[in-house]
Amino acid sequence: MRDAQPKVIYRKEYQVPAFLLERTELTFELFEDHAVVTSQLHLRRNPEADSGAALELNGQELELLEIAIDGRELAPDEYHRDDELLTIARAPAQCVLRCRTRIHPQDNTSLEGLYKSRTMFCTQCEAEGFRKITYFPDRPDVMSVFDVTIEADQALYPVLLSNGNPAPPEALANGRHRVRWHDPHPKPAYLFALVAGDLHYVEDRFRTCGGRDVTLRIYVEEKDLDKCAHAMDSLIQSMRWDEETYGREYDLDIFNIVAVDDFNMGAMENKGLNIFNSSCVLCRPDITTDAGFERVQAIVAHEYFHNWSGNRVTCRDWFQLSLKEGFTVFRDAEFSADMGSRTVKRIEDVSLLRTAQFAEDAGPMAHPVRPDSFIEISNFYTVTIYEKGAEVVRMIHTLLGPDLFRQGSDLYFERHDGQAVTCEEFVRAMEDASGVDLSQFRLWYSQAGTPRLVASGHYDAGAARYTLTLRQSCPATPGQPHKEPMTIPVALGLLGTAGNLPLRLADDQPGGETADNTHRVLELSREEQSFCFEGVMEAPVPALLRGFSAPVTLEYDYSTADLCALMSREADGFVRWDASQQLALRVLSDTQGQLAADSAVVVEPQFLEALGALLADPDLDPAMVAEMLRLPAEGYLAELAAGQGGADVDIIHQARQMLRSTIASAHADLFADCYQRLVTSAPFAPTAEQIGARSLRNMCLDYLALDGAEGLQLAQSQFDTATNMTDRLAALQAIAQHGPDQQRDAALARFYADWEQETLVVNQWLQVQAAMPVADALERVRALLAHPAFDIRNPNKVRSLIGAFSNANPVNFHRADGEGYRLLADIIEQLDSRNPQIAARLLTPLTKWRNYRGRGEQMRAQLQRLAAMPTVSRDVYEVLDKALA
Ligand code: PHE
Ligand code: ZN
Repeated sequence: MRDAQPKVIYRKEYQVPAFLLERTELTFELFEDHAVVTSQLHLRRNPEADSGAALELNGQELELLEIAIDGRELAPDEYHRDDELLTIARAPAQCVLRCRTRIHPQDNTSLEGLYKSRTMFCTQCEAEGFRKITYFPDRPDVMSVFDVTIEADQALYPVLLSNGNPAPPEALANGRHRVRWHDPHPKPAYLFALVAGDLHYVEDRFRTCGGRDVTLRIYVEEKDLDKCAHAMDSLIQSMRWDEETYGREYDLDIFNIVAVDDFNMGAMENKGLNIFNSSCVLCRPDITTDAGFERVQAIVAHEYFHNWSGNRVTCRDWFQLSLKEGFTVFRDAEFSADMGSRTVKRIEDVSLLRTAQFAEDAGPMAHPVRPDSFIEISNFYTVTIYEKGAEVVRMIHTLLGPDLFRQGSDLYFERHDGQAVTCEEFVRAMEDASGVDLSQFRLWYSQAGTPRLVASGHYDAGAARYTLTLRQSCPATPGQPHKEPMTIPVALGLLGTAGNLPLRLADDQPGGETADNTHRVLELSREEQSFCFEGVMEAPVPALLRGFSAPVTLEYDYSTADLCALMSREADGFVRWDASQQLALRVLSDTQGQLAADSAVVVEPQFLEALGALLADPDLDPAMVAEMLRLPAEGYLAELAAGQGGADVDIIHQARQMLRSTIASAHADLFADCYQRLVTSAPFAPTAEQIGARSLRNMCLDYLALDGAEGLQLAQSQFDTATNMTDRLAALQAIAQHGPDQQRDAALARFYADWEQETLVVNQWLQVQAAMPVADALERVRALLAHPAFDIRNPNKVRSLIGAFSNANPVNFHRADGEGYRLLADIIEQLDSRNPQIAARLLTPLTKWRNYRGRGEQMRAQLQRLAAMPTVSRDVYEVLDKALA
């Protein structure tokens, strides 16, 4: 598929850098068709490296204008240069390397390195983007203090930003100006950032626990100034939370956030200068949904928390990526749980883990939380590194308990401040501070695949004893045919007829003690283990994996009555929700069987009753009820079916629709009552309470609209009168999913006319249409590709239209004629040469080709077609190579 096969990089081949960098001086001269970058690198041979090792500087697509050591220009035979590396065999042990390169940010469509987004210059350097700016030891274990000078036209780019603290601006000739920035904290190149543009800001202050005043600014285009308040509130909450929860104080005088429209990811934690995808920072009630508000809060927190978990203590190499990402995701998840509903946050995170991460772990791209090899690191910003990595940290938290965990975290930051370290250092700090042995636990970092936990219970009434037997196994994954048993924390309770039972383990049994004697954390470490509970006066229903205490699949042979009991009486909200999902899965599976056999569909009455009881009970947390009414997504059902002979997308869709309609008509009155009960006249606020109420109310609306004309009428009136985007978009979605053509098209047209000027809203509009399960969805998506609202250069738009179509519209993506697959491949083909990171990400749904009954060959054919392109990026090459293996 390409002439030179890209090289595989192995973790075990890590070598310390030959040279250390004491100081980096950079000057950027920005012009309308190019930029000139001058660097002075203060280098010193690394005493720990082989004394003959050459100086290696990474560089890609650079025009080298000048290279000198200690003021003397290098002769061509004093260095060697290829596509990726500049090597100087004999550099002095201590020297200053001066280098000038010319680059073209205006033509940089990959959105890594220095590029232009609309009218502003900005950078994205993680993971290996800095090498597209200048020759540099672009690896995270080379850290230096940066001095940055930016020169640009004053009128076009009045704001010039970089990391650290600025000196006063200086005026230059020809209408240009200059600003110098100094960042006192040594950092690797991936945390460097520069922004230049006509930006405006909102400002606030924060006094740290140490009494220092920090200026907080959010820089945006002028039109977006009124969309920054929530991000600013979130930033202040995050700073306070990190002081209170982790004892972490901010360490510069300024903290800047900049919003950019063209961005490959969500946001980036550059030291003192976080750069955000505008979709992850801008918010206003009339244009942003509740989910959007929560997302902004979580991402602002995530990037802020990186200041310690990522920046002060960083990664030695990219195999350790989860060191910063897993820990930081765990930190932001706990923050969100503290700010809103803990149970609902956990439910959302587990849903994501089960649908996306379990799928990744079961597919061709499976890799451990600490991978052993990669071709392109950009492909490893995965749900496994982030979400499974966070689950691994959460399990350590569970095993140690909050106090020892905090001591471990303190020790980690204290020991490694200013260093670039590995996952091993994190685990060791946790061990050293707590005295808990994590040797076996370390397997979570090295073994890929989702462990399978099989539980069975035995109740001996005569002895009043309940024995729980747990058995673990882990499926083979690429390169790892055999797995060892891991330490699995199993949090549990036992549910009796009148609530949770007191727990007493037989004497010699391990298991964490807790104050509340109805809750216990068992540690499964062998392949099979039994735990005996004494004094159990009735046959209990085990409430297993409370709070989802480990990222595993669980099998236990619950009866329908058991699941209903858990749904209605179990103390742990996560288990209650999970029971509702288990029951729904069982009912969906029956329905699929009945549909496949052409027999009458009969829905389990206990399931309908249980849902009815939830709707009728005004004392329950509405947010949790909403989640319990949400049936498992089609993609998740397909994933589950994959293990059982392959998914039939059409039957899955039909079964789910049929079950939803049955629920809708069985409980039409309850949905209507509940909807009315939750109507409020309170002014909009993105508080947990209001978010929960809106979420249940809109869930009711969706079922009502599904049930017929009256519900659609209600959706229409909500659409017409809504005063916030949550309610408006929910109504639009209900109409788009269930309404007749005319009503749907009118609502979509109206929505576009109203919001044409707001890019983020227009992206939602694209998404709603891409996900409509209507017969001509694919033709609509093709037509939208040519709509002025779409732009293939903008990743948000590509995700909204193409990402939503291929991930959230299964019946149309998997159309029998294969046109859905072709559409996706067409886009990837166009994108690969412009933005390989986005192209490679879009490939994910096609890599699951083995999961689909009757479709696999058509999917694979599109992968093969892409593999035959005359040039393939390293990013796309790696995914194709693994998916086709
Ligand atoms: N490090 C960023 C985060 O997790 C994500 C990111 C990776 C952004 C690579 C850009 C490029 O917060
Ligand atoms: Zn991160």
